[in-house]
Amino acid sequence: MAKSQSRYVCQSCGAVHPRWAGQCDTCHEWNTLVEERVEQTPKGLGSTGKAKQVAFEALASHEQDAPRIDTAIGELNRVLGGGLVLGSAVLVGGDPGIGKSTLLLQAVCNAARQGVATAYISGEESTSQIQLRARRLGLAVPGVELAAATSVRDILASLDKSEAKLVVIDSVQTMFLDNIEAAPGTVSQVRGVAHELIKYAKRRNIALFLVGHVTKDGQIAGPRVMEHMVDTVLYFEGDRGHQFRILRAVKNRFGATDEIGVFAMGEQGLSEVANPSSLFLPQREQAVSGSVVFAGMEGSRPLLVEIQALVTPSGLATPRRAVVGWDSARLAMVLAVLEARADMVFHDKEVFLNIAGGFRVNEPAADLAAACALVSALLDKPFPAHAIAFGEISLSGEVRPVGRSEQRLKEAQKLGFTEACFAPAETNGKPLQKGVVGCDIRHVEHIITYLRT
Ligand code: TYD
Ligand code: MG
Repeated sequence: MAKSQSRYVCQSCGAVHPRWAGQCDTCHEWNTLVEERVEQTPKGLGSTGKAKQVAFEALASHEQDAPRIDTAIGELNRVLGGGLVLGSAVLVGGDPGIGKSTLLLQAVCNAARQGVATAYISGEESTSQIQLRARRLGLAVPGVELAAATSVRDILASLDKSEAKLVVIDSVQTMFLDNIEAAPGTVSQVRGVAHELIKYAKRRNIALFLVGHVTKDGQIAGPRVMEHMVDTVLYFEGDRGHQFRILRAVKNRFGATDEIGVFAMGEQGLSEVANPSSLFLPQREQAVSGSVVFAGMEGSRPLLVEIQALVTPSGLATPRRAVVGWDSARLAMVLAVLEARADMVFHDKEVFLNIAGGFRVNEPAADLAAACALVSALLDKPFPAHAIAFGEISLSGEVRPVGRSEQRLKEAQKLGFTEACFAPAETNGKPLQKGVVGCDIRHVEHIITYLRT
């Protein structure tokens, strides 16, 4: 006999507890345990007498590449790995108001324009709200079926009667299954809803977009539980204060995961930014101290961003170190290396480091550019306005070459940053590209020598 029992599931990390507690002992969040009822079934399979045979197939097959839907948004196509694969499920996560609904509405309408039957199902907005937005954005095209619904049972029954090949569910947190007792948005509902929808999409070979909201600490609510179920996880991020938005692939079964797509949110919805470097680089006419352009890579694309540093005297026993857009632990490391290996004195100074344009840099290759900005600010001596820097700094003060320097240099040349390139000259045994004034920086001391001469 199946027996019904209670268990308590953390809404933040998904950990299961037998008893209620104020704090989850896995992720240490408070007040996140919610009761769920589970049907208990007897353990163990017993005999395999009634089992059916599983059909094995050869790994090598003559199947063509999976057919893809072109969303006519280049940046989205690239992040997806070359278009949306039929029969796949894509989770689009992001803060409320970042532009998820706008992006997917644009994608759906573009697909409809090419004759793909599509359906957009919203549990958050009324159909008239969406129609109004579509009209304002000039997207009101035939071939998009619109519905406001939240019951998955109703939605699946309606999709059965529809021809739609591309379906958007906005958002998973508002949908519910009537056979699960928990409220919409809880872990068990989100898991159940995602499971049902994905199973349906695979069965009918439909491309499915699931919108998922992100909690304040950056997790998709009902979090990791959904990530392993879908084929692709995209995060839509950006700063409310800035216009640009970045679509990042975190997981992709049909493409690379280090790709990003850059968009700008404007009057006419989201537009693609073909040359993202221009977005993050302010107009640079004059050389200023404390400012250096870093030639970074985002996925397969080079991206130039400006790193700014400000160093001021401090009266505090522990002077302030503030960093925006970069890792504070890395800043501490670079400062320590500059003090220990190049006799630069920062311990009585306040240090501020900022990545211009609200961008976030994660690469170790930014070490050298940050060090250049810091030294330039400390000595109050500018680097040339149209110069770039990249390289990783080791604790000994050596500067190590980083990957893809050719691509970084090409991007710099394209944008006119040809005055100088501060990087270790030998990258994988190759000299820096011809035509670029290379300043061979092999040790952090070389930065100071350059600035002092
Ligand atoms: P939306 O797509 O509704 O965000 P999400 O679905 O991620 O919650 O985007 C809403 C925000 O985008 C809103 O704050 C206004 C802004 N916006 C524009 O600036 N221009 C536009 O053309 C549109 C449609 C939205
Ligand atoms: Mg929305």
